[in-house]
Amino acid sequence: MTTANPLFRPDLLAKYNANGPRYTSYPTALQFRDDFDPGAYLRAAADPGASALDLSLYFHIPFCDTVCFYCGCNKIATKNRAHALPYLERLKREIALQAACFDTRRPVSQLHLGGGTPTFMSNDELAELLATAREHFAFVPDDEAEYSIEVDPREASPETIAHLRKLGFNRLSLGVQDFDPLVQKAINRIQPPDMTASVMQAARHAGFHSIGVDLIYGLPHQTVESFSRTLDTMIELAPDRLSVFAYAHMPQLFKMQRRMDAATLPSPAMRLAILQRVVERLSAAGYVYIGMDHFALPTDELARAQAQRTLHRNFQGYSTRAECDLIGFGASSIGKVGDVYAQNAKELPAYAAAIDAGKLAITRGVRLSADDRLRRDIITQLMCNLELRFDEFEAMYGIHFADTFEPELERLRGFEQDGLVSLSNRKLEVQTAGRMLVRNIAMVFDHYLGQQTLERFSRTV
Ligand SMILES: C[S@@+](CC[C@H](N)C(=O)[O-])C[C@H]1O[C@@H](n2cnc3c(N)ncnc32)[C@H](O)[C@@H]1O
Ligand code: SF4
Repeated sequence: MTTANPLFRPDLLAKYNANGPRYTSYPTALQFRDDFDPGAYLRAAADPGASALDLSLYFHIPFCDTVCFYCGCNKIATKNRAHALPYLERLKREIALQAACFDTRRPVSQLHLGGGTPTFMSNDELAELLATAREHFAFVPDDEAEYSIEVDPREASPETIAHLRKLGFNRLSLGVQDFDPLVQKAINRIQPPDMTASVMQAARHAGFHSIGVDLIYGLPHQTVESFSRTLDTMIELAPDRLSVFAYAHMPQLFKMQRRMDAATLPSPAMRLAILQRVVERLSAAGYVYIGMDHFALPTDELARAQAQRTLHRNFQGYSTRAECDLIGFGASSIGKVGDVYAQNAKELPAYAAAIDAGKLAITRGVRLSADDRLRRDIITQLMCNLELRFDEFEAMYGIHFADTFEPELERLRGFEQDGLVSLSNRKLEVQTAGRMLVRNIAMVFDHYLGQQTLERFSRTV
């Protein structure tokens, strides 16, 4: 029967479920300071010691034609396509400004366009953006790199998909969320399965290396049966990867979420039952469970990277590429360079004003302390490799792990008794039953958690 799956222990998931960060960065963005000195970013960018790392470029395109009620991303709803052009012009200026801060001989081996809706820009505008980026930075050939873009199937014709491939993109991630018409109506996102299927077909035809889709569980009206139908349809479409996110309901932060009737949201028990079905159905269909919320076909690079312990984590989730320095472009984007995180102005007018004045648009950030760096490394190891080998940290940081983290290891004894982790004096291993709670395990090592209101984060399951 279904409960025999060791990955899925409803009793433990219910016991440990709490609000917590997704750890796409450590410290989390809540620790970014308004009094951050952009000079720290410039120094990190100019540091010749950092030039051993490749560069990764992230472009944030915030516009969406219509807004999905559940959405927690940084976006601007507008039907006016004329907004794209001045934004593109500013991105081009920002590319030149950022390029002046770095040794641009450093190879760019990762590129990601996210949003919002990147294809809100026309094909010509996207071509111009890429051409400017290629003029200023040294891109490696596209079959040796990870060049990805978030595509909303409602905003992408087969011609656009073919065009994106010609621009060098080799990975797509498609927003789907749920195929059920009742759910789609409640979330204000009408997207018939045929639309998704035809984008996937166009992407295969164009030769994309990997096609991923995003689903969300926990949305209005979802039941185990309804979401099973979505999964069945999706399995037939056979994407290489799936991200199945837990719906983050934070109406105090995202006002649009109030447009959904809270009474139609599945109960916590229903969310867990749906999650159980997700794991069972996708595993039975041959997908490998990756990290925290990803699934991939065994042939996909992500599954191979997990097996070889070379998985990495970045703002987009999991990646197969070695750690890069990340340059963020566009409103609200975050860069990570050496020991520094720096975030651009979130609001478009402030972003535009900075770029128009010939300045970077950085408004917040944080420079990591030695303790932050060590904890970031620990949390990344846990999220990617599901284990900590103490001797690796001892060699790298000159610490005695058990002494430095005595209180943390003590707290983990409870997790050990519940079978979520195993602890020896050489390593900590996340057990199968703990995989879905890896965020909770990582939270034990988060220095700042006690000082933050956990309401600022979403539920871990
Ligand atoms: C930045 S959005 C961009 C995708 C693209 N605009 C689209 O909708 O197709 C990336 C993904 O974030 C996820 N997402 C957005 N809001 C969320 C929320 N409140 N809870 C969980 N996942 C969410 C969705 O799965 C979405 O596809
Ligand atoms: S999910 Fe995508 S299309 Fe929908 S509002 Fe968010 S960013 Fe825009």
